[in-house]
Amino acid sequence: MNPVDIIRKPIEPEMKEFELKFKTSMQSKAPLLDRITHYIIKRKGKQLRPMFVFLSAKATGDVNESTYTAAALIELLHTATLVHDDVVDEADERRGFFSVNALWKNKVAVLVGDFLLSKGLMMAVDNNEFELLHTVSDAVKEMSEGELLQMEKTRLLNFDEEVYFEIIRQKTAALISACCRSGAQSTKSSEEHIRLMTEFGEKVGMAFQIKDDLFDYGAGKDIGKPTGIDIQERKTTLPLIYALNRASNSDRKRIVNIVKNHNTNAIKVKEVIQFVSASGGIEYATQKMHDYARQSLELLSQLPETEARKSLETLVNYTIERER
Ligand code: IPE
Ligand code: IPE
Ligand code: MG
Ligand code: MG
Repeated sequence: MNPVDIIRKPIEPEMKEFELKFKTSMQSKAPLLDRITHYIIKRKGKQLRPMFVFLSAKATGDVNESTYTAAALIELLHTATLVHDDVVDEADERRGFFSVNALWKNKVAVLVGDFLLSKGLMMAVDNNEFELLHTVSDAVKEMSEGELLQMEKTRLLNFDEEVYFEIIRQKTAALISACCRSGAQSTKSSEEHIRLMTEFGEKVGMAFQIKDDLFDYGAGKDIGKPTGIDIQERKTTLPLIYALNRASNSDRKRIVNIVKNHNTNAIKVKEVIQFVSASGGIEYATQKMHDYARQSLELLSQLPETEARKSLETLVNYTIERER
């Protein structure tokens, strides 16, 4: 059985119902919006975040209507941020197809992202889910701060590992943490379990983004979105930061010069990628990713042994071993 089937097994009916709720939550009477949301639904992603929500709920209590609202709200928000992220990163591919900005232009993509975000918030308000709104708004605030911090650091080129970890904690780990937290909150679990799940989600989220950043170095592999664009965007991620901090002065000058001034030259970008892997940057980042995954599993071991907990463990391993 493939890992996703194993992970979904204890929450299969919930995921089916979630998809319906997710679809209806996006509906609009505006013809252009309707066309675009249909396009988005057809090219669905891995839906890892709803899985985190349902499994966190099941591992700590019983899934209920609030859990569904949390899952749908978070996937809506996630989708909105991806639509915006592709504008920001000038990426023309997402989930193996054209990105919204590539097909309909940036202006449309910005507005579609806003639409999805507000649909999500409205759904939560309609259901009086104020605790959920608190958790999720906090994560969205962190995400925007993280993306802006990244942008600010990109201008100067960041070589500081601590800054890198702070960026990914905010832009990615905060939302995955919110998945696990809101899953546990939806079942009215103990404060202790809620705190545990919040921390668990943050650790997996860190591992998740390091994996995503490693993908960017896997030139040529089909991951359903462009590779090599982090360097193009002057985003210094962990493999490069590690390599640069250990490089000779002349190597550092040469590589920094490429990232700053020749980052759209495919041959030069390849040179950077080769330098990073020859310097052990890929191995180092892989090791850090495993560290975070291990920490998350240690937290999980404090929960009662259930099928949902086992699935969460498989989900952690899938997060770091997946091919896209
Ligand atoms: C992509 O997330 C955005 C990041 C935080 C790196 P996913 O890889 O979960 O995207 P989809 O939803 O499966 O497309
Ligand atoms: C993660 O950053 C995006 C968000 C947290 C919104 P990336 O820019 O690396 O994400 P991908 O690689 O485009 O999915
Ligand atoms: Mg991007
Ligand atoms: Mg990326």
